[in-house]
Order: sequence, then C-alpha cells, then structure tokens
Amino acid sequence: MVSMLTRRTFLSAATATALVPWLKPTPLLAAATAPHHQLNAMAGDALLVGDPHPRTLVWCFNGKVPGPEIRVRQHDQVKITVSNQLNEETTVHWHGIRVANAMDGVPHLTQKPIAPGETFEYLIDVPDAGTFWYHPHQRSFEQVGRGLYGALIVEEQQPIQVDRDITWVIDDWRLSADASIVDDFGHPMHLSHGGRIGNTVTVNGQIITDFPVRAGERIRLRLINAANARIFGLEFREHQPHVIAIDGQPVTPHTVDGDRIDLAPGMRIDLVLDCTAKPGQRFSVIDSYYSNLAYQFADLVYRDEAPLREKPLESSIELPANALAEPDLENAEPYEITLGGGVHGNMQGASFNGEWADIRTLARQGKMWAINGIVASGHVMEPLLTLQRGRSYRFSLINDSAWPHPMHIHGHSFRVLMRDGKPVKHQPWQDTVLMAPGERVDIAFVADNPGDWMFHCHILEHQMSGMMALLRVI
Ligand code: C2O
Ligand code: CU
Repeated sequence: MVSMLTRRTFLSAATATALVPWLKPTPLLAAATAPHHQLNAMAGDALLVGDPHPRTLVWCFNGKVPGPEIRVRQHDQVKITVSNQLNEETTVHWHGIRVANAMDGVPHLTQKPIAPGETFEYLIDVPDAGTFWYHPHQRSFEQVGRGLYGALIVEEQQPIQVDRDITWVIDDWRLSADASIVDDFGHPMHLSHGGRIGNTVTVNGQIITDFPVRAGERIRLRLINAANARIFGLEFREHQPHVIAIDGQPVTPHTVDGDRIDLAPGMRIDLVLDCTAKPGQRFSVIDSYYSNLAYQFADLVYRDEAPLREKPLESSIELPANALAEPDLENAEPYEITLGGGVHGNMQGASFNGEWADIRTLARQGKMWAINGIVASGHVMEPLLTLQRGRSYRFSLINDSAWPHPMHIHGHSFRVLMRDGKPVKHQPWQDTVLMAPGERVDIAFVADNPGDWMFHCHILEHQMSGMMALLRVI
C-alpha cells in the first residue's frame, strides 16, 4: 500500500512538471501481468568472513548480500519496485540490459534520484538473454562498495543442457580486523591509483574455500564482478572451462589462451565447466591477475560419489545469439577517445566545469581522470558525442594512462574488434571492455537505442573522479 501511495504521489508530481526530462510518464504496459519484483535498499548485516568473526554491517538489497537473484525470461517485461530505506538518495541501474533510456537508473539524467523513504518503479524489457546485474548509480563507489548489488539472469527460451546453473557474484571488501568495512570511501589514493582494492574476496557474500562438485557433471558458471576495483584473473588449471558468453552476450565457445579468465569490474563471463576428474580429487582455482599477489580463489572439491556420467555430455554448449544490430564496418563513423589521468600519467591538466585546470588543481577537487581532456562532474553534462540513431560507429579507445580501465557503455553492446591493431578472436559483444595501460582497443556498434547514455570506467573511484562521458543517440 505504501508503495502505491508513493507511486501516485510521484505520478502527480510528474504531471505538474512535465518539462523535466526524467519525469516523462512511464508506459504502464502489461503491468498487471508482468513479473514483479521488490528491491529494498537498506542497511543490513552479513556474515562475510564467517565464524568466529562478527557479522559485517553492510548496505544491501532485501537484507542480503548479494541482493536477490532476479531471474526472468527473455522478452519478458519486468516490473521492479525499488524502495529506498537508506539515509541517502539512490537509483538502480540494470547493467548491460539494453533498456529504454528512462529506465536506465542514472541520477538526474534519466530520473530523479529516489529519496530516502521513497519508491520508484522500473519497467524494463529484457531483449537479450544472458547474465546481467543491478546496482545503484548514485555514489556507486560507496553504495556498491558497501554491498548494494545483485544478479539479474535472463533465461534463454531454449537453454543449453547443464546439470547445474550457478551464479558467482564476486566482490572484494576492505575490512578491518573486526570484519567491519573500512570507512575510507573516496580516499584520494584510491582515486589516483587503481581504485579501492580490498583485502577480502567473497563469492555470493561469503568467503569461499571449497566448491563441491560431482564427477561427470556439467556446470554453467556465471561469473559477475561486482567489486569496485579489483580485477580477477581466474585460472582453473587442470580444468578447461569453455567461455560461452561475455557480458551476457553469447560468444563462440572457446577455452582461454594462457588459461586465465580476466574479469574486470562490471564484467560477466559465463563458463561451461565439465567436471572430468575423479571422486575425491581436489583442484585449486587461482586468481593470478596481480602477478606477485596470486592466491587460492577457491577449490573444486569432487565429492566421494559415483560419477554422474562416464563421459562429458556431448550436447552443444553454443548459446543462441541475441538480436543485436551488426555494425557496418565499411561505413562506420570513426572516433578516437583518449582516456587520461591518474598518477604516473601524461595528463598535465584538463577541462573541468568548462575551464582548463592543471592536475594539482583538479586533484584538490577530487578529480583525477579525463575523457578526451574533459573531467566529468556528476552525470549531467554536454554530450561527448552525438550519435545518429541507426548509424554504425567505430571507437578507437586509447588508454593514455598507467592504469587498467574497464570501460562501460550504457544501453548498447559493442563488438570488440582489435587490440593494439590486432584482430580480437571471436570479436565478442561486450558492454564493458578491459583496457591495459597504454592499450588501444577498437570497438564498433550501431547506435540504435535513443537517449543519453553514460560511458565510463567501471573502477568506481575512477568514475567518481572524472572518468565518465555522455553519448547522446538521437
Ligand atoms: Cu555498472 Cu554505469 O554501470
Ligand atoms: Cu579506470
């Protein structure tokens, strides 16, 4: 009842100020039959580290970290009511879902932020099957960092055959010895370096040690990196899982060169893991992304149980493609987009609020990063580029900095064409692409979703300190 009341109040406010862009009336199509979910953004506690350590005070959805896994069918229209029980404004962004702009959850740009005590109804169409996730876009570096996120799984109409379909929402926390969250969000050191790297890695809200499996089974493992800054590089060693989707979008099933699966903040990777070893065996999964800091991420522990089958399943693991518009590379309009800033970089200064400022002046205002020489402040800004709806674009993204950046575009998926001039195998569709320091990455897409879309680094401290731009599709 409370949410109905708030909804009505909201709608009448909308009619009163019809010119404010975020108050465009929401179409109420099929609302009665649409699958309906409720997310309460709230304070809570979670047993992240486990006994004998105390529980950790977190911010989370519905009292749990991660928030509920929302599972819907492809092409559903989903209604998600978000109620804000925090002491500050929030929004929810449906990362990777090609939503209508008004449902994208970007504060002040696509909607008014949800005030404490208020609710907002998101009505989203889910055009693509795959692994997605949701998180606030308001002060994300702290809200996501304290535990506000969850998985959003869009099931294929015809899923592939697996024995278990498992989601690993992976996070990295900065905890003190008493398991409480270190309250240093937005520390200048995190902004200017690689973001807020923590000291405790959790899978689905808990430190994991053993992951029990059964010999012979086939698992679909959906990896989601919900960390502010930590990049994971998982090695399954004796196992050779196949990558079947990246950022929700199917890719030709393949094993990974060098066997390390890199998963940057914001990214998702779907694996098919055939458990081909014997009952009683144990294998470590190693995270070796930061080369001298490799650690045991988890162990695959084969239960002492007769194998489910003698030979791995032979059925296809290739997912049906989603209906994405193929960019016309011959006629794609090219742009170069340069990312600069941070310590050990070349950037001397940049434009901030319309004026050029040197890097020290920027740093004093908590700004460290720029896209094409422009530092973002907040989400509302002049577009970096105005794109014509239906046209193909090719961006050469140039990482002119000493740090990696996972660059994310809202409302669209893009093909990753080349890295440093060399064609990328399978040219995967992604919505977040990890760029190494100094690397140049070519991507292409059709600007087919009208609206104002954020383009930003998913290291949330980089995003808040200026590494964000706006792409307008008209
Ligand atoms: Cu996952 Cu703009 O965000
Ligand atoms: Cu970055």
